[in-house]
Amino acid sequence: MKEQIKQIQTLEELQALHTATFGKNGTMTARLRDMKNLDNDARVALNRENAELRELFKTRQTEIEYAVMMAKLHDQKVDVTLSPEPAAVGRLHPLTMALTEISGILESFGYSLWTGPEIEDDWHNFTALNTPAHHPARDMQDTFFLSNGNVMRTQTSAIQIRAMEKCGVPVKMFGIGATYRKEMDATHSPMFHQIEGLYVNKDITMSDLIGDIRAFLQRFFEMDNVELRIRPSYFPFTEPSIEIDMKWHGDKWLEIMGAGMVHPDVLRNCGIDPDVYQGFAFGFGWDRLAMLKYNLPDIRKFYDGDIRWLAANGF
Ligand code: DAH
Repeated sequence: MKEQIKQIQTLEELQALHTATFGKNGTMTARLRDMKNLDNDARVALNRENAELRELFKTRQTEIEYAVMMAKLHDQKVDVTLSPEPAAVGRLHPLTMALTEISGILESFGYSLWTGPEIEDDWHNFTALNTPAHHPARDMQDTFFLSNGNVMRTQTSAIQIRAMEKCGVPVKMFGIGATYRKEMDATHSPMFHQIEGLYVNKDITMSDLIGDIRAFLQRFFEMDNVELRIRPSYFPFTEPSIEIDMKWHGDKWLEIMGAGMVHPDVLRNCGIDPDVYQGFAFGFGWDRLAMLKYNLPDIRKFYDGDIRWLAANGF
């Protein structure tokens, strides 16, 4: 029996033998029950055997438990030299990348970054921009009106008014943000993003405007020289107004932005004397610039949050 206990390798077998010995129908249980028939010496011997066996079971149990633990420790040991699974790393959205670049370039030219509210009042979105009520140019933009008379900002030009009202002149700023219009197709989303630039100081001319735009486009599109086409245009808040096209891949003209010399009435609306100060302004779709730079076909995909589309396009 003693040898048998020492040979046992598993806790289950040990438990089985323990039950067969000390359980209700166990061999030792039976012998203890008959102890009254034994003489004194035999009784002492039986008690000792009983105690020894119990001790042996306990010892063997401890030994097996220890062996099981050591085996587990061995199997589960941590190899600290193993390289970890590579963690998934997040990436920047192309719009964020484009904005970071655009902001960096404009800031290096001395423009400072502004934002403004997306729910805008009539004054900042239209009237101060020389587009009073019933002005036909209000129809150029299909506006979302709110019931209290405010609008979803249709153009970041509203931010240039806020900048001039707050800081006066001279001012060199760019405003960024979401803009809203009732339109939707592959190149139009009802929510899109614009960037507005403004520089008002003494003796500012159209050449300053075109010089900054040229330098900006060359940096953004990483081209040594951009070919520009300046077309006359109309915006109520600039006079004269122009549109700037850029030669793309050697053969196509792309319309890039609207711009012009700030209309004297816009300066007056912001408390600035147009006989002393002049300025230029420009505005463009930042999504559109990102689409061109990264060669992406559908503006709506920018807002789907679909990382499969982003990954398929190299992001
Ligand atoms: N706000 C114009 C638009 O949304 C863009 C624009 C044109 C902004 C000419 C300007 C500008 O500052 O001078 O279509």
